[in-house]
Amino acid sequence: MTVSDRTYFTLRRLHSLSGVVPVGVFLLEHFFTNSFAVQGPDAFNRAAEHLAEIPYVVLIEVFGIGLPILFHMVLGLVIVTTGQANAAKYRYQNNWMYLLQRVSGLFLVAYILYHVWTTRLSPEVMRGETDLFGMMSDDLRSPGLFAFYVLGVIAASYHFGNGLFGFAIHWGLATGRRAQRNVARLGLAVFLVLSLVGINSLLAFVHRPVRLFERAPETKVVEHPPLPAPAPPGGTR
Ligand code: HEM
Repeated sequence: MTVSDRTYFTLRRLHSLSGVVPVGVFLLEHFFTNSFAVQGPDAFNRAAEHLAEIPYVVLIEVFGIGLPILFHMVLGLVIVTTGQANAAKYRYQNNWMYLLQRVSGLFLVAYILYHVWTTRLSPEVMRGETDLFGMMSDDLRSPGLFAFYVLGVIAASYHFGNGLFGFAIHWGLATGRRAQRNVARLGLAVFLVLSLVGINSLLAFVHRPVRLFERAPETKVVEHPPLPAPAPPGGTR
């Protein structure tokens, strides 16, 4: 099937936008929620239950997350397999970064399908009987699955970080050399920070998280006794 240039242009723009809103925004929320694992099983399961209780959750999941990911994924596959996109045409400075964008996208297809099935759509999870922390914990104790998840986290972080650069170029938000360099740096920072946060959450499921920037759980607020009243003016001898 062929589409007109105009339709193709609109679809490419929608593909680009969907990668940031809502899919990219969801990715940030997902990494944030998963970070509750660092505080232990109860905190993680509470955070997951809290999300499951928000109003209109199923509508949000279907129309705000599922369908946009599906749209981005299917059109992404078309772009990768038909080779209609040309890196030079879109003025990418580094073709290998663009290549990695596509390779990470391809890997994410397998990763997302597996991850969504096991954690959201499998019959046990749909029945609402699953201890999500325990299930992730069991899965991640297998070295093969742990490596698969680490790769998934790195691929998603790279794809989104570098995707922000592509997004800024395609939407004309970074036209000058300097602006493009700054957006590339921002993309790299997003990639590194998300990778670290994501891998730390994975470690938390196998009980080896790194606790950073948090109060230790045993920290208590110590009540000080009231200070003695100040001496009256003139003082006592
Ligand atoms: C974690 C999920 C994903 C997120 C957050 C995401 C985000 C993004 C972003 C922000 C862009 C940049 C848009 C632009 O260049 O204007 C992008 C591009 C792209 N994405 Fe994704 N994406 C995800 C999953 C996928 C998947 C599963 C595929 C499947 C192959 C895919 C394929 C692509 C392709 C091919 C491009 C480059 C489009 C181009 O030629 O400019 N993405 N993505």
